Amino acid sequence: MTNTYNPAAKSAPIGVFDSGLGGLTVLRELLTLLPQEDFVYLADNANAPYGLNSPATVRHDTLNNVDFFMSHGVKMIVFACNTSSAIALDAAKERAGSVPVIGVIDDGIKAAMQASADLNDPAKIAVLATEATVNNGIFAKELPGVFIDNNLPEPLVMQQACQEFVQLVEDGNWDGPLAEEMAEHYLADMRDNKEPDIAILACTHFPFLENVIQKALPKTKLVDCSKVLAYEVKEILNSMGLQNEKKHKSDLSFYVTEASPGIAQNIERILEIELAGVYHADIKNAEGFER
Ligand code: DGL
Repeated sequence: MTNTYNPAAKSAPIGVFDSGLGGLTVLRELLTLLPQEDFVYLADNANAPYGLNSPATVRHDTLNNVDFFMSHGVKMIVFACNTSSAIALDAAKERAGSVPVIGVIDDGIKAAMQASADLNDPAKIAVLATEATVNNGIFAKELPGVFIDNNLPEPLVMQQACQEFVQLVEDGNWDGPLAEEMAEHYLADMRDNKEPDIAILACTHFPFLENVIQKALPKTKLVDCSKVLAYEVKEILNSMGLQNEKKHKSDLSFYVTEASPGIAQNIERILEIELAGVYHADIKNAEGFER
């Protein structure tokens, strides 16, 4: 890939977005692997949850997020959201021109492939995701081909929408009776009848519920996109000559599309950092797209 960037782009931030807090599971890995990079995180909470919106609405909101990042001069855009990645990645790439745009679907699939390496039989893979991602069907469509291309037996893929997990996470209910009840509600049938070998936590909110999901699926290996994605981002930065060369610690800016009391404390708790503030991104009324 040729680098058409101005050298100044090396010090530009990376834009990362989700509908809410879920993308912090991705940002956390990015911060660990790329401590010298700066990040702008956008939670489009005014339009959350994405998983209950129509594909046209998800596309509209995602492209507004892309415009927001472009106006912030980012050098790369990371979709820390499976729903947007399933529905709007191609449109966003077109919109962003020469700025690389990275989604998370391939990384979730790669994580499942790594986890299946020690299985003897074809893997039984559960995809736990939002309603919109399940309706889109991208994992069910892509998983078998990717496995076959990598000389692995064709897996059996089962999907389960677990939309209420998203609100549980936003409310800070990561464990305890309510989360356990919800996990049982969504996963008991799958555990008792199909017993998957691997479950892809195919919504970036779900890793926060890892303990309760594991309790509901005790024999299943849980994987998510975040580590694989962080390595992918590192590789792309290196191959495009875009690594930030300054030595100081990451600068982080956080934006929300709607004021949300307590969100700063939640971010601080998750990332174990102190925040100067969370800013308001007024992108709800951005022009140029039809809902
Ligand atoms: N965290 C997002 C995902 O990975 C979106 C969740 C939602 O807003 O429904 O799909």
